[in-house]
Amino acid sequence: MDTAVSTPLTARRGGPLQGRARVPGDKSISHRALILGALAVGQTTISGLLEGEDVLHTADALRALGAKVERGNDGIWRIHGVGVGGFTSPAGPLDFGNSGTGVRLMFGAVAGCPIRATFDGDASLRKRPMRRILDPVEKMGARVVEQAEGGRLPLTLQGARDPIPITYESPVPSAQLKSAVLLAGLAAPGETTVIEAEATRDHTERMLKHFGAKVVSKPHGEHGRRITLTGQPELEPANVVVPADPSSAAFPIVAALLVPGSDVTLEAVMTNPLRTGLLTTLKEMGANIEYLNKRDEGEEIADLRVTAGALKGVEVPPERAPSMIDEYPILAVAAAFAQGQTRMRGLKELRVKESDRLEATAAMLRANGVTVDIDGDDITVTGNTTVAGGGEVKTHMDHRIAMSALVMGLASEQPVRIDDSAFIATSFPGFVELMRSLGADLS
Ligand code: S3P
Repeated sequence: MDTAVSTPLTARRGGPLQGRARVPGDKSISHRALILGALAVGQTTISGLLEGEDVLHTADALRALGAKVERGNDGIWRIHGVGVGGFTSPAGPLDFGNSGTGVRLMFGAVAGCPIRATFDGDASLRKRPMRRILDPVEKMGARVVEQAEGGRLPLTLQGARDPIPITYESPVPSAQLKSAVLLAGLAAPGETTVIEAEATRDHTERMLKHFGAKVVSKPHGEHGRRITLTGQPELEPANVVVPADPSSAAFPIVAALLVPGSDVTLEAVMTNPLRTGLLTTLKEMGANIEYLNKRDEGEEIADLRVTAGALKGVEVPPERAPSMIDEYPILAVAAAFAQGQTRMRGLKELRVKESDRLEATAAMLRANGVTVDIDGDDITVTGNTTVAGGGEVKTHMDHRIAMSALVMGLASEQPVRIDDSAFIATSFPGFVELMRSLGADLS
């Protein structure tokens, strides 16, 4: 991406949003499908892959590591994998762009192979913590050869010749961390176990099973899980159908709730319960969201019909955070238009996303006349049925801040402008066109 030129964009209030739309494929599942396809022997096919920049970086990295990864003219991706432990050393650094998921999952996949690879990314990714992944993969026998200050990118990893299976108690609720350990564990003999105090999205576990690995997941404590993978499986190639991303659907959903008179249906949205914290919260706020045509295609999916209506403030408990970790900026926008206060608790992890999302969310709202308080890891938004708008929002290379601010502008008194819309393409290519097709005024 050319980060030298920024592309501002403005959202204005207009008529109701109406119609049907399908947001692109789920980002988490897309990364995982590519990686497991590259570790299976034979041809894996993926339909509905998210063709956003984050996922395309992972595809390029897998090619550089020896897998054949191709997109057909039919839109189907075909992967010819190299087998567990079969990656070869890449000729140059692997560039993951803006993607924390790509780089962290790939640390795990590379850690179990006897190769050396350099990982890098853009200015946002270079600021993000990688130690949380390096600690367990070092225990499994991988070695960090070079790193920037504080264990950050650019970073060179020497994978393990004989990876050691471990039992790892995760110190942070992170699906990326869990997934990295499980992917490294594929190449280790015996059982690799991850214990998480709070259950995080389980797409890696589901996808590993889909590719023929043995994975057992049991409840652990009040909200946690204990996940055990049996190492050195023969991964079988698979066909993967990627459902629509609930984290992307979140933007048109909230827009339809806030713009008076709106009636929008989002098709085939994944409703895995470890991803639906936002929908639960919006319903508690009084949102009209109907689940239509529920079905199960490896993941639960439904068409979501959303109609505009009044919202009220609620308290969002900390234990809900893992199931809506990417949705707090857009929830904060919904809260700004709700009657009363919304308190969102336990948001420490938001500080280490594509930006410090706690601060960026507060700044986005304050720039548009909304009262926000941050108290430690909690954020409280004081809602009002009218929001002034009229502000310019700094997006800090963060796609979700960019899309949240634009949704705010569709319902506020005055337009909302963002400094840069370029990063929206990391997760939601076609966002502007999709929103316009529903009637949004973005220019
Ligand atoms: C993701 C996990 C989450 C989330 C990210 C995608 C994944 O990150 O924020 O967008 O696909 O595993 P953490 O694992 O850091 O919470």
